[in-house]
Amino acid sequence: CTGSNLTITVVGASGDLAKKKIFPALFALFYEDWLPENFLVFGFSRTKMTDEELRNMISKTLTCRIDKRENCEDKMDQFLKRCFYHSGQYNSEDHFSELDNKLKEKEGGKLSNRLFYLSIPPNIFVDVVRCASLKASSENGWTRVIVEKPFGRDSESSSELTRCLKQYLSEDQIFRIDHYLGKELVENLSVLRFSNLVFEPLWSRNYIRNVQLIFSEDFGTEGRGGYFDNYGIIRDIMQNHLLQILALFAMETPVSLDAEDIRNEKVKVLRSMRPLELENVVVGQYKGHSKGSKSYPAYTDDPTVPNGSLTPTFAAAALFIDNARWDGVPFLMKAGKALHTKRAEIRVQFRHVPGNLYKKNFGTDLDKATNELVLRVQPDEAIYLKINNKVPGLGMRLDRSDLNLLFRARYQREIPDAYERLLLDAIEGERRLFIRSDELDAAWALFTPLLKEIENKKIAPELYPYGSRGPVGAHYLAARHNVRWGDVGSEDS
Ligand code: BG6
Repeated sequence: CTGSNLTITVVGASGDLAKKKIFPALFALFYEDWLPENFLVFGFSRTKMTDEELRNMISKTLTCRIDKRENCEDKMDQFLKRCFYHSGQYNSEDHFSELDNKLKEKEGGKLSNRLFYLSIPPNIFVDVVRCASLKASSENGWTRVIVEKPFGRDSESSSELTRCLKQYLSEDQIFRIDHYLGKELVENLSVLRFSNLVFEPLWSRNYIRNVQLIFSEDFGTEGRGGYFDNYGIIRDIMQNHLLQILALFAMETPVSLDAEDIRNEKVKVLRSMRPLELENVVVGQYKGHSKGSKSYPAYTDDPTVPNGSLTPTFAAAALFIDNARWDGVPFLMKAGKALHTKRAEIRVQFRHVPGNLYKKNFGTDLDKATNELVLRVQPDEAIYLKINNKVPGLGMRLDRSDLNLLFRARYQREIPDAYERLLLDAIEGERRLFIRSDELDAAWALFTPLLKEIENKKIAPELYPYGSRGPVGAHYLAARHNVRWGDVGSEDS
């Protein structure tokens, strides 16, 4: 609100995430007048830097949207003038006291709210939360902390992390980010379902044959192998990003749009799910491969990855929700690095039309005649529905065509980055898109037994060439559940 101060302290300010995502998102919010009048940004990390050096570092990553180029340089200068830096050790209460003094000096005794963004490795989360909450909390306004995954490696370590964080913070001060929830199309999922008559009545086992949640990247773990090897793709993508989308997709209608109502419904879905079973999972790892004169590295070629690592860089899984709405419907997830395309999609395959009058026009492959709704989360956001249509002419030939909502064509504006939405929500105290601790527990409960089994049995991942469509095992898994993967990135518009 006008008059009060807001200081946003980015802890881990010299790291990659801060440079690539957080400072640019804060600038975008400032540019579009979403930030309160009196806001300040502080960088905190171990690197020794002056305010000027921080500004210089940040300025290299700030951009203006194509449609907002006016006064861009001026706005950047104004933004940078509000950025300051303090260097310190992450576990030093004294260094956070020094930060507190600097904050107080800038706040000038006014009502001041403080937001800390922890852009740091998980092993120092608790130290930073302890120091920040004991020594640098706001004395007259709110204090909130945004934390990024990984929230532990399994149920036990996650509960331990929650327990430690709660020694210093209450649940409503903790904002656990899953940046996929801030993506435009993921937010739009609920709008699509609950504010259109035509989808929700079909949203159940009666009409939906299977649902596919697909994440694919066309690059490997280059440069992040050390982090990644400790987690693997199931923890990195499935247990959080894809599972969150699944929960939003499958939840019952919430009582209202309030954060607690929505999160209550998401938890119910997660708690109705069967923990994953090894027989319903395929794991893979990319291997080196050359194409023409170009050669692509294997996952294990990364010097930060231990030799002989079995960590999966690809996984496919079939999940089930044992409730009245979804009984027996396979939810298939697929996530992989170093595949042939970069894409995230939700694909909904509908059942066959009973007694289809046009059966003979489809030949033997009736699967090709079923409707499919696709929400393309990225790149090039789109929602399209595959329908059967008569090819114009005197004969009776049918084909599959798309009813296509391509965001780029329809809205002609750049879509904000997920971090802009999430930072703004945290500033406004809107918790709808953040993960509550019981949601996190329920998510880990589904994946922990599987992860332990994979690790204890030392399950060898199926190797797939860098840049391919992933291990063939994923197709067998889908086939066992009568599913054919939607053909990501080839036939589709
Ligand atoms: C992160 C994962 O959470 O999401 C990364 O740790 C992954 O491995 C990234 O690359 C993908 O995010 P986006 O927004 O680029 O799709």
